[in-house]
Amino acid sequence: MSAPILEVRNVTVQFGALKAVDSVTLSLRAGERRALIGPNGAGKTTLFNAITGGVSVSAGRVVFAGTDMTRKSAAARAHLGIARTFQITNLFDQLDVRENMRLAVRGLSAAKFSLLGRDALGAEHEARVVHALAVSHLEDREHTLVKDLSYGEQRQLEVAMALAASPRLLLLDEPAAGLSPAERTFLADIIRGLPRDLTIVLIEHDMDLALGLVDYVTVMQNGRVIAEDAPDAIRTNPLVQEVYLGKPHTVSMAGGPDAAAH
Ligand SMILES: Nc1ncnc2c1ncn2[C@@H]1O[C@H](COP(=O)(O)OP(=O)(O)OP(=O)(O)O)[C@@H](O)[C@H]1O
Ligand SMILES: [Mg+2]
Repeated sequence: MSAPILEVRNVTVQFGALKAVDSVTLSLRAGERRALIGPNGAGKTTLFNAITGGVSVSAGRVVFAGTDMTRKSAAARAHLGIARTFQITNLFDQLDVRENMRLAVRGLSAAKFSLLGRDALGAEHEARVVHALAVSHLEDREHTLVKDLSYGEQRQLEVAMALAASPRLLLLDEPAAGLSPAERTFLADIIRGLPRDLTIVLIEHDMDLALGLVDYVTVMQNGRVIAEDAPDAIRTNPLVQEVYLGKPHTVSMAGGPDAAAH
């Protein structure tokens, strides 16, 4: 088994009196695909924010590829290879696909810009953008304005933008939310086809979709990890069944757009 690429150690994120993430410990090995599931408000997105540097942790440590990231900025973490997509679409509507991609890679490469010079950087960007668009099945949409893409294509573009950073860890926050069944299947195939050495954490409310894509599953509720196991064992885990089936309002919503933006 390879060394862990990500270790979350006893991480707590507190908003006032609320522990949105409450002493969570996770370990992901390089190349692993992990689902992060749990009812609304469980703390899934907040845990992503703790990993990416979007919120500061109240306690605990985040270690990525052997480096303690706990006090590093979000930009520094991105440079070291952590990329994410957001639960709520985060694109520039009036720009085309390529321009959105360019904006996504540009910020990341500020340091290299001075080292390599404009031309070298341009070539490197170009290669990354072309590859990420191809993997996300958007190669024919380069010059289409985002507002003219289907919603499914917009979600593909968000994956492409994250991939353009050539990350080692990709965090996907409900990438299939709001998609039709056909679009969901298509996006699932894109995720399935991502490079096997890329470590992925997928937040997804649709259990069937999530569990069909991953090696291992972490279940959160009220800020805590309540179960962690292989997909088949999670399906039959009584505690997980109670969390999902015992409270109908938290049952899989097929990633509906109502999934609150936090
Ligand atoms: N910036 C914030 N300030 C205050 N409370 C917050 C903040 N962000 C999240 N919360 C609260 O923390 C808890 C966890 O929220 P979080 O968004 O992490 O849940 P989630 O598991 O992603 O839920 P969902 O499935 O609805 O996206 C919720 O009670 C939420 O209201
Ligand atoms: Mg969320």
